[in-house]
Amino acid sequence: MIFVTGGAGFIGSNFVLEWLARTDEPIANLDKLTYAGNLQSLASAANDPRHVFVKGDIGDAELVGRLLATYRPRAVINFAAESHVDRSIHGPEEFIQTNIVGTFRLLEALRDYYRPLPDAEKSAFRFLHVSTDEVYGSLERGDAPFREDNPYQPNSPYSATKAASDHLVRAYHHTYGLPVLTTNCSNNYGPYHFPEKLIPLCIHNALAGKPLPIYGDGEQIRDWLYVQDHCSAIRRVLEAGQIGECYNIGGWNELTNLTVVNTVCSILDDLKPRDDGLSYASQLTFVEDRLGHDRRYAIDATKLSADLGWRPSETFDTGIRKTIQWNLDNLDWVKNVTSGAYQHWVDKQYGTS
Ligand code: NAD
Ligand code: DAU
Repeated sequence: MIFVTGGAGFIGSNFVLEWLARTDEPIANLDKLTYAGNLQSLASAANDPRHVFVKGDIGDAELVGRLLATYRPRAVINFAAESHVDRSIHGPEEFIQTNIVGTFRLLEALRDYYRPLPDAEKSAFRFLHVSTDEVYGSLERGDAPFREDNPYQPNSPYSATKAASDHLVRAYHHTYGLPVLTTNCSNNYGPYHFPEKLIPLCIHNALAGKPLPIYGDGEQIRDWLYVQDHCSAIRRVLEAGQIGECYNIGGWNELTNLTVVNTVCSILDDLKPRDDGLSYASQLTFVEDRLGHDRRYAIDATKLSADLGWRPSETFDTGIRKTIQWNLDNLDWVKNVTSGAYQHWVDKQYGTS
């Protein structure tokens, strides 16, 4: 079987559901169920005997060791992390604990598990660490997109902790021979995306008649990838990636935040027009910029496409339509994840709920 961590979060839950739909191989799923983890995202797998869910922390080496000994996975994929940049600016502590200390403890448990494996299991085993393009820092317009050999220049507490975890993963390969793979992906969007992030936040606020907050001038650029394309890239790297290598994953979809939000508004205008006939774009509101806001991210995914033959299936136009339709069809999911603790975050970040 394979073993994932953070499989109740946005990308992890998409990965688990797709895994179950595409293969018969069982999957164990360890997730702490923080505010970002949601078993409702895995509801369709709740009665599937191939999916074993365990609530717990990647930093609990004793628990992780026990699970590895019990399930003897051929691969471990680490999605677990604190993932929201704004939260890392308000409070970096959780990011240090999960992204750095948690990854370290997970690596220690993996080292203990891997060392005594029989040769055949040892040579088949892989640890895939899911990371981000933000470790490379920020680009200006006209700069070449990030390649795997770009220097690490993380700018936020979030990206600094992800960079630290990438370095630990690299070191465990170099020093202890752990068979690792690292992926560095650009911005994802799609089903089960928590509405603290730009795209689901704007869909949610648009429908609720609330402001669509644009940080600074809205000209920051991100490189958007549909989440299921991220999952297909991870499966491909797991299957054929070279041990010890890093692979950039991106969608060749560089867009300014203003373009993204305006696109969301015009699709919503088509699918669910406002009662007063105005465009949802009338809800756009410029707000104070994010501290240390990175201007541009862009991924050069040539290595992944040339060496492993991966290409994304969705363009931004097709992916964003699916995403908006998914949100309209799953208003209960959105309602449930935006109750409770989410409201405290909205008050803190935007000064209003
Ligand atoms: P998310 O915040 O939606 O989900 C994270 C999941 O990890 C949650 O289910 C949470 O409960 C769980 N978790 C948190 N701390 C844990 C701990 N200590 N032990 C066990 N589980 C824990 O994040 P996401 O957007 O799905 O991102 C998943 C991974 O992909 C992260 O490592 C992130 O850095 C990386 N990534 C995300 C994006 C993106 O655009 N969302 C892009 C590139 C890379
Ligand atoms: O690049 C990959 C990264 O993408 C991942 O590693 C992170 O886990 C993921 O959260 C995402 O980080 P970003 O900071 O780019 O995503 P976010 O959705 O928070 O913001 C996207 C852009 O939109 C960014 O320039 C900030 C801006 N923004 C965001 C919010 C929440 C706004 O203008 N207004 C908002 O309210």
